[in-house]
Amino acid sequence: MIKIRNLHKRFKTQHVLKGLNLDINTGETLVILGSSGGGKSVLLKHIIGLSKPDSGYVEINGVNISELAGPALFRAVKRMGMLFQGAALFDSMTIAENTGFYLAEHADPETGHKISKSEIVDRVDEALKMVGLEGTQHKMPGELSGGMRKRAGLARLIVYRPQILLYDEPTTGLDPITAMQINELIVETQEKLKATSIVVTHDISSALHVGDRLALLKNGQIACIGELNHFIKNEDPIIDCLRKGIKT
Ligand SMILES: Nc1ncnc2c1ncn2[C@@H]1O[C@H](COP(=O)(O)OP(=O)(O)OP(=O)(O)O)[C@@H](O)[C@H]1O
Ligand SMILES: [Mg+2]
Repeated sequence: MIKIRNLHKRFKTQHVLKGLNLDINTGETLVILGSSGGGKSVLLKHIIGLSKPDSGYVEINGVNISELAGPALFRAVKRMGMLFQGAALFDSMTIAENTGFYLAEHADPETGHKISKSEIVDRVDEALKMVGLEGTQHKMPGELSGGMRKRAGLARLIVYRPQILLYDEPTTGLDPITAMQINELIVETQEKLKATSIVVTHDISSALHVGDRLALLKNGQIACIGELNHFIKNEDPIIDCLRKGIKT
């Protein structure tokens, strides 16, 4: 369970998160919607411990990660993974090296044991197959299309089997068919890992496809949260778009 309480974050004069409260249940997929610049990526970075709040806290399975740093923070978030907006692959590494990077650098987060080279190769192959990128092991990120890079980012995420997955706009900039493949992968990954997922998206069909619950981030707080039939009753313009998306 993820518990966020009274989270505040400012950048100079800009007050981005303004006392945000949010509970995310273990095993659910929560979609977060909100206008551009509203603080969705900032919120995800707080959940995974990359950013520190000015006040308030994020608690992951009973551990307040907002007061941790260094190895203690790493231990608390090691079963979490994030697909960054724009995939963020290492340009000088092959797709196989990118995908296996975490496993090569760290012990297996599940067992705490070091993983052998041959097992890394197997797990990388399996993850690339799962995202439909078999055969790209020796390619460089620059040789792949935007959609393939997103899928490689997803392979790098699922290869170490995180329990909490954060996706920052996983389908933005993709054609509708590739976007739907990514949505299906998010659902499949969820079922396979029995993970908790948080998906930030502007893509209405993606929100409807993957979300168990939906939340609207507005004015630095969660303005509305719930299952679809509750959520769409809200009068906000973004939710109005969602309603129109359902009708068509
Ligand atoms: N490191 C930073 N330093 C200064 N300002 C920042 C920083 N990170 C984010 N911001 C500001 O905080 C606000 C929220 O940014 P954020 O990236 O979370 O928006 P978003 O909701 O993810 O938008 P989008 O949908 O366009 O990705 C923006 O105005 C942004 O400029
Ligand atoms: Mg963003």
